[in-house]
Amino acid sequence: EGSKLWGGRFVGKVDPIMEKFNSSLEYDQRMWDADIRGSKAYVKALEKAKLVTTDEMNQILLGLDQISEEWSKGAFVTKPGDEDIHTANERRLKELIGEPAGKLHTGRSRNDQVVTDMRLWLRDAISTLLDDGVKLISTMVERAAAEIDTLFPGYTHMQRAQPIRWSHWILSHAVALSRDVDTLQEMKKRVNVLPLGSGAIAGTPFDIDRELLRKELDFEEISINSMDATGQRDFVAEFLFWASLCSTHASKMAEDLILYSTKEFAFITLSDAYSTGSSLMPQKKNADSLELIRSKAGRIFGRCAGFMMTLKGLPSTYNKDLQEDKEAMFDCYDTIHAVLQVATGVMSTLEINSSAMEAALSPDMLATDLAYYLVRKGVPFREAHSLSGKAVSAAESKNLVLNQLTEEDLHTISPLFGSDVVLLWDYRSSVEQYGAPGGTAKSSVTAQVELLKKWLKKH
Ligand code: ARG
Repeated sequence: EGSKLWGGRFVGKVDPIMEKFNSSLEYDQRMWDADIRGSKAYVKALEKAKLVTTDEMNQILLGLDQISEEWSKGAFVTKPGDEDIHTANERRLKELIGEPAGKLHTGRSRNDQVVTDMRLWLRDAISTLLDDGVKLISTMVERAAAEIDTLFPGYTHMQRAQPIRWSHWILSHAVALSRDVDTLQEMKKRVNVLPLGSGAIAGTPFDIDRELLRKELDFEEISINSMDATGQRDFVAEFLFWASLCSTHASKMAEDLILYSTKEFAFITLSDAYSTGSSLMPQKKNADSLELIRSKAGRIFGRCAGFMMTLKGLPSTYNKDLQEDKEAMFDCYDTIHAVLQVATGVMSTLEINSSAMEAALSPDMLATDLAYYLVRKGVPFREAHSLSGKAVSAAESKNLVLNQLTEEDLHTISPLFGSDVVLLWDYRSSVEQYGAPGGTAKSSVTAQVELLKKWLKKH
């Protein structure tokens, strides 16, 4: 069997089951473009090192262009013996141009080739995800600005906590996502390092100009150590973790919205474009888009945890286990790309029911304000908290809501309660107290909108 690229020392044939088990072509063919770009750069370095003639370089470049065309037209025919995208492209090159093809891999290993391809691929994928993230955040910021005046209940522990602005809720998620975008941008620098020229483990013994490779492939830096460059997958692990955290942010937002879309809450109505019905119950409108966004975080983190498990305990340098990096990377990319796009669709089309949101506020959510009232009259906060708690319990025992307690009721709890307590029972003025940076007062939410708009301009 002379057809295997590594077949020289082999006498026996590979078991067909092993052949299938070993092959990554089914999924790594999506890096065909990166693989060809890498080879085109590499042959230029070979020519500079006088390992191929200018004529041979040109034949190889032409051949690679033709392969590229075949892939882009969907006309590339894979063969059963193709182990991965690297061997498939080289096999095809040999068919097209004959002998000079055999010189392309001089001093190169699939170990430095595969990781070069992946870095090229991920670099482009990251640019797409940065765009996705920015689109989602800008949709959310616009929405927050447009609906800045709507109030609704804020919850902690899923219990009614304090009145807040709906826009404050939106921005809480937008801010988390903006950190994801910043992190991804920073990660790009670490992805953008050239491994090519590292060979299989030891580096290259030829005059391969790695700086030329770096420039050709537009990498920011070249890798420092050939063993690290071929054997580490930090950039993949970091990307998988990034996708886990980002999808967890999307999941949290989705979970809130699912709840808000129930008939019991009825704060929002999801657009038909992002809902589905029931095959049995005609009245149903299910928030499938949001449920899937919620679920994808589990899928992505599963990929991340699975790949970390693969890495754990590996010896240094390249081991075939590392081939598992690609399905994890591709799947997390596809999934988070979809999540961000669907989230943008959901956030730009949902409708809010502001009267239901405001009607859901209740005076007990102002118990903190009752305590602050006493604080403003000089009572230490701990004591004020306890006195307000007494008012809550007095109202409960009389089957009243907090603002139905009479002035006398309150007066027996603390003589400091005066007739001006009635001024507290106003949600809008309650919210307006939170004017320090980061708070839910209109001025403060407006400042948040401005900060995010400034951030958006830089992205
Ligand atoms: N398909 C392999 C991978 O994805 C390419 C590298 C194979 N290198 C090797 N020495 N077997 O990791």
